[in-house]
Amino acid sequence: MPTEPASQQRTAARPDLRIPTHVGVIMDGNGRWAQARSKPRTEGHVAGVKALRGLVQSCIDHGVSYLTVFSFSSENWSRPKDEISFIFGLLRRFVASDLEKLHRNNVRVKIIGVRDGLDDSLRRLIADVETTTAMNTGLKLQVAFNYGGKAEITDAVRRIAALVADGRLKAEDITEDTIGRALYTAGMPDPDIIIRTSGERRFSNFLLWQSAYSELVFVDENWPDFDEASFVRVLEEYTGRDRRFGGVEAQNR
Ligand code: IPE
Ligand code: IPE
Ligand code: MG
Repeated sequence: MPTEPASQQRTAARPDLRIPTHVGVIMDGNGRWAQARSKPRTEGHVAGVKALRGLVQSCIDHGVSYLTVFSFSSENWSRPKDEISFIFGLLRRFVASDLEKLHRNNVRVKIIGVRDGLDDSLRRLIADVETTTAMNTGLKLQVAFNYGGKAEITDAVRRIAALVADGRLKAEDITEDTIGRALYTAGMPDPDIIIRTSGERRFSNFLLWQSAYSELVFVDENWPDFDEASFVRVLEEYTGRDRRFGGVEAQNR
């Protein structure tokens, strides 16, 4: 499946930077950030939300079209109960406190991940933020919450298999596009770049299908320390990359 060409958009401030159309971020290192300051891990998550606000603004300023952030994985359920409920509370507070500003800034928000098992009030809040911002035409912000790439693909396979069982789709007609359209990210271009903070070098089940041709950038800073200057450094790194998509020449300029 051809990946969408990277945006040729240039920013006024840094016309030398090539701006990715879709940025994915694995926001990691909140706990270590707090630990280094002798604070509870929960403070790291609070600081992480501030860094997320900053990144949303940076993406708007630089003309990024899609931003997908990993905020709670399907594997994060193995954490202590207290930490899990704190993170859930933080999502509620983020949605409640930031919805108005996000809407004013023309940001469209989607939560991607499994909703079964989330309590009713959280599901209502998610539905509310999505409907309120559905018609916005600015930055498309996807928050991957209770998300796992393998679960997403499994879910897609299940739905496609049901169509085949019903006789509504022939097995031989299944294409990469059929699968792409059955994922939570249906209709979005694949991420051009995936950033992971805190020095870890793995995906931890983030956007497995969609990252086939993403440029990977690993930075050592913990997520709460990631700011506009860090983002610009990442964009500089991305600008220098040769994206070949299996061919022999860079297709990025
Ligand atoms: C990322 O920070 C946030 C979530 C996974 C919810 P961590 O909480 O994983 O922080 P570290 O990796 O323990 O430092
Ligand atoms: C990945 O971080 C998930 C999020 C950032 C939400 P983790 O901290 O959960 O990943 P591992 O356990 O180090 O692989
Ligand atoms: Mg971590």
